[in-house]
Amino acid sequence: MKIKNICCIGAGYVGGPTMSIIAQKNPKIKVHVVDMNSNKIAAWNSENLKNLPVYEPGLSKVVKEARGRNLFFSTNIEKHIQDADMIFISVNTPTKTSGEGKGYAADLKFVEACAKQIAEVSKSNKIIVEKSTVPVRTSEKIKEILLSNNSDVNFQILSNPEFLAEGTAMRDLEIPDRVLIGGDNTIEGKKAINSLFEIYASWVPKENILTTNLWSSELSKLTANAFLAQRISSINSLSELCEETGANIEEVSKAIGMDSRIGNSFLKTSVGFGGSCFQKDILNLVYLCRYYGLDQVAEFWHQVIKINNYQKKRFAYKTIQELNGNVKNKKIGILGWAFKKDTNDSRESASIYISNDLLNEGANLFIYDPRVSKERIIEDLKSLFIINGESDNEISKKLNSVKIVSDYNLCFENASGVSILTEWDEFKTYDWQRIYNNMQQPAFVFDGRNILDRNHLEAIGFIYKGIGNH
Ligand code: UDX
Ligand code: ADP
Repeated sequence: MKIKNICCIGAGYVGGPTMSIIAQKNPKIKVHVVDMNSNKIAAWNSENLKNLPVYEPGLSKVVKEARGRNLFFSTNIEKHIQDADMIFISVNTPTKTSGEGKGYAADLKFVEACAKQIAEVSKSNKIIVEKSTVPVRTSEKIKEILLSNNSDVNFQILSNPEFLAEGTAMRDLEIPDRVLIGGDNTIEGKKAINSLFEIYASWVPKENILTTNLWSSELSKLTANAFLAQRISSINSLSELCEETGANIEEVSKAIGMDSRIGNSFLKTSVGFGGSCFQKDILNLVYLCRYYGLDQVAEFWHQVIKINNYQKKRFAYKTIQELNGNVKNKKIGILGWAFKKDTNDSRESASIYISNDLLNEGANLFIYDPRVSKERIIEDLKSLFIINGESDNEISKKLNSVKIVSDYNLCFENASGVSILTEWDEFKTYDWQRIYNNMQQPAFVFDGRNILDRNHLEAIGFIYKGIGNH
């Protein structure tokens, strides 16, 4: 079946960019992206492309080209579900905070709400595409909800996991390593797979589009993220050994990465990975393994998360230790809040946890990020304080020790140290001599991403502390 109308439920970091590219590459298909958050939809529709709710290099250009032509953003969910012959579910699937599987399993309430609404309002046959990252066998659940609420129309379920990485999403969508489509091995299932195949084939080489069964597709997404995260935890675990032995993690990383069997990506040591996917997906995998009684396998993957948490704590405590074991009332500048450069997303960013540890020791933080809003930063901190069970009094006391600044220079005046937690390119262009002159002496740089030139900083007079080197 040739698809004419697509509806995507969820206008977030995945739905927005993915649908923009699908619309750009398929001008004959109408793509409606719907969301229950009207502010978000208004932002997607704003005249000024700087106000799009997602910051991604190259995104505004694509939106400009397709929006109003065949790409639309709307809050009219019901109408666009009805009109569509293919519906992408692209809503958030956070880790459960209560009930069975709390702290591990993905919370599917948003996915289930979508399935219910689709079933309730649909009057014609539809292909439902799971785009959100979901636990294995979610498609089964979606199918059950659809069939039990509407037996008049035919629903085909496909799994089409998203592999885009934020910050490079447009490139990843434009030239994906592969596109994965999972579906039922029936005549109807194969037809549905083919419909989605045709959409991607308008710009992706056919040999890069893999078709599998539903479960393989769902599990491949979790596994790909688990492998990537595992590499980061592996290199981060060795960073501590490097600090003890005098080896240099950058040199070790380069040396092992030149082995073509290992490869050189995802070997960059850091303050710990963040983002909405890695932790959530691994926890999901751990939950799934435990569910099937595979405790050894579950523990293997759980260790990836444990090392990541340890790396964040280790960095915060290293900072405190270097500042004579005492940061009470000391000013520390925090450069970078996003979980990686080139995005305004801060979900699970290491900055949140490291800042919390510093605040618990009484530090005064001046935080700067080129893209993350002041409101978002406060909200991130507040959410963590609440999860940790802190009282209103404690929360407001800690927030009083936080200043979010839009001029990065304010991070440095009389600061004892500055921590670099996101690898934004602009940090490398700062006049570090001038910064040094404004700081208290001795002045420390805690480079949590190893992005600055250590020799240059030490020549100025800074005490430089990176990760995985002496
Ligand atoms: C990830 C996957 O890469 C993507 O395929 C999937 O669709 C979603 O999850 P994302 O989380 O957006 O994408 O970004 P990614 O580039 O993978 O980075 C995740 C985290 O790992 C960031 O905090 C990043 O700074 C960190 N990282 C990455 C390292 O610490 N070292 C590295 O070598 C690479
Ligand atoms: P992701 O990174 O997976 O794209 P986001 O949180 O950025 O996650 O986006 C998910 C979007 O899905 C949010 O904008 C949220 O408002 C929207 N959403 C969640 N549930 C529904 C629903 N039932 N109907 C419409 N939109 C929804």
